[in-house]
Amino acid sequence: MSIWNRKDLIALADLSAEELLFLLETAKAFKGVGEREIKKVPALRGKTLINFFVEPSTRTRISFELSALRLSADVINISATTSSLQKGETLKDTALNLEALLADIIVLRHSSAGAAHFLSERLHASIINAGDGAHEHPTQGLLDGFTILEKYGRLQGLEVAIVGDILFSRVARSNIYLLTKLGAKVTLVGPSTLVPQKFETLGVRVTHHIDDILETADVINLLRIQHERQHKEYFPGLGEYVTLFGLTKERVARLKPKCLIMHPGPMNRGVEIDSEGADGARSVILEQVTNGLAVRMAVLYACGGGKGILT
Ligand code: CP
Repeated sequence: MSIWNRKDLIALADLSAEELLFLLETAKAFKGVGEREIKKVPALRGKTLINFFVEPSTRTRISFELSALRLSADVINISATTSSLQKGETLKDTALNLEALLADIIVLRHSSAGAAHFLSERLHASIINAGDGAHEHPTQGLLDGFTILEKYGRLQGLEVAIVGDILFSRVARSNIYLLTKLGAKVTLVGPSTLVPQKFETLGVRVTHHIDDILETADVINLLRIQHERQHKEYFPGLGEYVTLFGLTKERVARLKPKCLIMHPGPMNRGVEIDSEGADGARSVILEQVTNGLAVRMAVLYACGGGKGILT
């Protein structure tokens, strides 16, 4: 019997280690589906998914759309600019109208932390959080964990460094919850303004010196500076940031040979990561994107009441 009993996926902070492992195991089965000539199963046939993206996205939106199509669901995409949010309709009223159109699953990306949780308490449809402000990006955390697990065969005991703008990063938070629950040792790296010491209460180490992790990390996950969420200056300038925290060619050379270089995208080349790191042999950045399909199929299957075996 499945241990999954949730209609929504809002935050990895809410999930037990067993639930996380269930989603990762299910994703492994769906990865096999993606490697077949016909990449489609009937698991969500008859269900309707609405991709509702109020913030820009390339990877997550397309990945959810493709995942739903591969599960045989009907898919509609709407954005802030093409919806009546533009005319002053509230998020709740828009979502209730989507439900009145018989949507079974709503995938929501929103700039406000808590938006997905807000809808999950008011709608019968499954709500999947595709990133809410600086709160969480649960499917990104899952696909990052899946990619590490695929490469190392375990998460337990691995040294994972997350470098950059942690304060405003929903990706960092979802990674922290998943990795610590599954036994990895997480170190956050960045300027003290963007990586405050208070993060240690989440069971991670904090350092403001990238040299502390370069030679020991099994995984280094670079994050973009989220200028759109920062309303004041958090460091003197990009030049100084690159000097102190950028994964430059010289720093890539100091990483362990097997160290995985990760980035959730979108990358700012020459800022948090140089092309030597982004395109080199240690990079799994595009594999993360591919794994996003399997992970999102697993999440839609679990929350959307997927039927039948995966054949
Ligand atoms: N990683 C990620 O969320 O990318 P997008 O903003 O392109 O969806």
